[in-house]
Amino acid sequence: MAAPEDHVADSRTEASEPTNGPEAELTAEVSPDVAPMVEEFMEQAAQQNEAAAEAVPDNPEHKDQPGSYISFEHVSKSFDDFVVLEDVSFCVNSGETLCILGRSGVGKSVSLQMLMGFYKPDAGVIRVAGEDITCMKEEQLQDIRRKVTMVFQNGALFDSISVGENVAFPLRERGELDEDQILQISKGLLEMVGVAGMAELLPSDLSTGMKRSVAIARALASRPEAILYDEPTTMVDPLMAHLLGNLIERLKRQLHLTSIVVTHDMRFAKKLADRIVFLDQGKVRFFGTMEEMERSEDPTIREFLLLDELILPELGPQLTAATP
Ligand SMILES: Nc1ncnc2c1ncn2[C@@H]1O[C@H](COP(=O)(O)OP(=O)(O)OP(=O)(O)O)[C@@H](O)[C@H]1O
Ligand SMILES: [Mg+2]
Repeated sequence: MAAPEDHVADSRTEASEPTNGPEAELTAEVSPDVAPMVEEFMEQAAQQNEAAAEAVPDNPEHKDQPGSYISFEHVSKSFDDFVVLEDVSFCVNSGETLCILGRSGVGKSVSLQMLMGFYKPDAGVIRVAGEDITCMKEEQLQDIRRKVTMVFQNGALFDSISVGENVAFPLRERGELDEDQILQISKGLLEMVGVAGMAELLPSDLSTGMKRSVAIARALASRPEAILYDEPTTMVDPLMAHLLGNLIERLKRQLHLTSIVVTHDMRFAKKLADRIVFLDQGKVRFFGTMEEMERSEDPTIREFLLLDELILPELGPQLTAATP
């Protein structure tokens, strides 16, 4: 029997949970005509991701622990003489969310692009889905890119085709679904990410936040095991950032998706991250949980955390004084 507290928590969720809150069912906002098809698609995605987690080889150093889904092992990368990453190591387990933090130009986007196989490391090993991708040929990398999808800062949508066709594209590529199923799933995915009714528009008709939502819908249509998000909240308003955060959290919980989120937004990182990697001057300055980061005595980490905390309290009294 459920404990009394569980019951209270359940009824509270039922009474007050908005349909796009972090606890809400992914398909809560999907219209009834397409909901069964989208639910089946999502169920298959969840099963696929659980199986992917099982398939990752055990941790070679600790056989009793699961291996990581994604790992950087002593990775270095330079462009000509310019060193971007130097002996960088971090990992993400299946179903976990890792946030990459660090100042502009430190190599966050380059790290994501290396995970997709767009750049090769000069030294070290990169593993994705437990496989060493470092020396993979383009053909093998294409298989990896089916497992891991990236949501770029600008959305990287196809400009000349409609929003609906952008989302339908990976479904068509898969070649398993008929036209009616493709239309139903792409409509439902757009509703799920909060851009219902925009299927006929062109990407150029959308705001930055909407483009990013459509990019997430398109990423989901390719049914990946992991999604890499490059600064999902940059240049969007706080409400949109909050909704995108809720969506990323729901995808993690309900689809067991492995995620890496590059962000400058500490509040966002606190909400989403199981673990954080903080890059500084080409090196890993910190790798661990948010609680461990907040307890860190490292002056660089303290300064980063303090700057984040100071902005609001410093502005607070001025704002209060200016209010009539
Ligand atoms: N193809 C390239 N050729 C040469 N230099 C590059 C290339 N791609 C990236 N760089 C350099 O590598 C460094 C890291 O770039 P990256 O885009 O990863 O930074 P970032 O941490 O994502 O920064 P931001 O927070 O501003 O997005 C930068 O100095 C950039 O100029
Ligand atoms: Mg970047």
